[in-house]
Formats: sequence, C-alpha cells, structure tokens
Amino acid sequence: MPRTVRDIASMKGAKKITAVTSYDYTMASLCDKAGIDVLLVGDSAGMVMLGYENTIPVTMDQMCMFTGAVSRARNDSMLVADLPFMSYQTGPTDAIANSGRLIKAGADAVKLEGGATASAIVRSIVDVGIPVMGHIGLQPQTTMLSEGYRVQGRTAEAASRLLEDAKELENAGAFCIVLEMVSHETAGMISDAVRIPTIGIGSGAGCDGQVLVVQDLLGMYEKIRPKFAKRYMNLSDSIVESLQRYRGDVESGAFPAEENWFSMDQGEAEKIGR
Ligand code: KIV
Repeated sequence: MPRTVRDIASMKGAKKITAVTSYDYTMASLCDKAGIDVLLVGDSAGMVMLGYENTIPVTMDQMCMFTGAVSRARNDSMLVADLPFMSYQTGPTDAIANSGRLIKAGADAVKLEGGATASAIVRSIVDVGIPVMGHIGLQPQTTMLSEGYRVQGRTAEAASRLLEDAKELENAGAFCIVLEMVSHETAGMISDAVRIPTIGIGSGAGCDGQVLVVQDLLGMYEKIRPKFAKRYMNLSDSIVESLQRYRGDVESGAFPAEENWFSMDQGEAEKIGR
C-alpha cells in the first residue's frame, strides 16, 4: 500500500523521510523497490529528461505524462507531482484544475513553489481535498529569473522571512514543505518551529527528510553538479563503458551470438538456402 499523507506527517521526529525525484517507469520501479518514502515527479524533469536549461518551459501535459509513468511503477512510495510554472500562479481556478489533472494522472499530492504569497493558492487546493507539499528557499521557477542559484536564509532577517513563509504554508494546510538551498541553521530553525515535516535539498541535516534528484545521486547528469548532491555512484561512466563494449561487439561480430538469435523450424532453413 502506498504511504499516505498521514504516514509522512507521522514520521516527523520519529524517522527521517527519504525522497527522490522520479520521472519514468523503470527508474521509479527501482526507487520504490529501494523503500524510498516519497517519489517526486519534479519539474526538474524539464532539465534532466528533456534537456531544457531550466524548469520554466515544462508543461502540464509533460508533467501528466511523467506522473502517469511513475504511478504505474510504484507500489509503496507516496507520489507527489510538481505543478509547473504558470499552472497555479494565475489563480485558484487554474491551480485546482491543474492539481486535479495531476491527481487523475496518478499523483497522491501536488507540490508548488512559494511562501506566504502562495498560501491562498495552497489553501484553495487543500480545500478541495488535494494534499499540497510547499516549496520555499530557492524556488527554481522564479528565483532563477531574478537571482540565479543562491543559498537562501543566510541572514537573520532572511531566516525570519523564510520562517514566516513556512508558518503561512502550514496554516494554509500544506502537509510538508521542501526547503531548497537554505542555510542549515535556518532550515534547522524552521524544522523545529513547524509541526509538519520539512524535506531538505541542500539545506543540511536539521530537516525532517531529504530529497535529491535521482540522476544527481546516481551520477548520471553531467551538466550541473550541485555541491549538496552526494553521488553514490558514477552511473554515466558505467553506461558509456557498456555502450562502448556493445559497439565494439557489433563492429567485431561478437554480438549477436547463437544464444541471442532464433532459428527456423526443423528442415525449413534448407528451403531458403540457409
Ligand atoms: O523539481 C524538483 O526536482 C524539485 C526538487 C529539487 C525538490 O522540486
């Protein structure tokens, strides 16, 4: 049975929450098998799966397609899907309709970026019964347009603004909040101050859980290598090496071999001169 909002909420203070991004059936099956609590169909799909420079171009149709693929793979993990840029900022009607599309595609909950200013939208989605995960700190859909990648919450003033954002999201009914690239002191303070779990990415050990882009942790995405993303393997090296061996085998004739092909029925080959 997939983990529910209640399961995730009850992990605060009891057990750290593990989350990774997932966008396709094959990888999502492995993440689910590994016991990951939350599979996030992040709009980072635009970068790691579709090759865009940032998450801005990602569409609802694309997010629904990725969400459907992940939902067909998962058994036990909770599935949260990102609302992409301009699918909710335009008001509650769009936000509810687009959240509904992600739920129909297979998500258990949606995630959107924004603090206090997004709280009315969060409340409108929660009010129709759709669980919402908040996302503050670095907000790639908008921070990238103005500031680029920058650590958030580095001053006491910035920390108290982020705390305010977190509390507004909690009051609006968010069940969980992602803290992206927030200084670890600020992230720890926020995590202690709110009752809902925080899930950090580049925000230190004081959060209630951690999320990483799965391609970063497996060493598959070469374009950006964030300092906060621990690489557990260099899968891209292994993939390139395997593909080169395959190419060598095809060129030399070592592949395919007898165990890789099929034969005609007894006595039939002679009839076509083989
Ligand atoms: O889109 C995404 O992958 C995310 C994570 C970075 C939290 O929002």
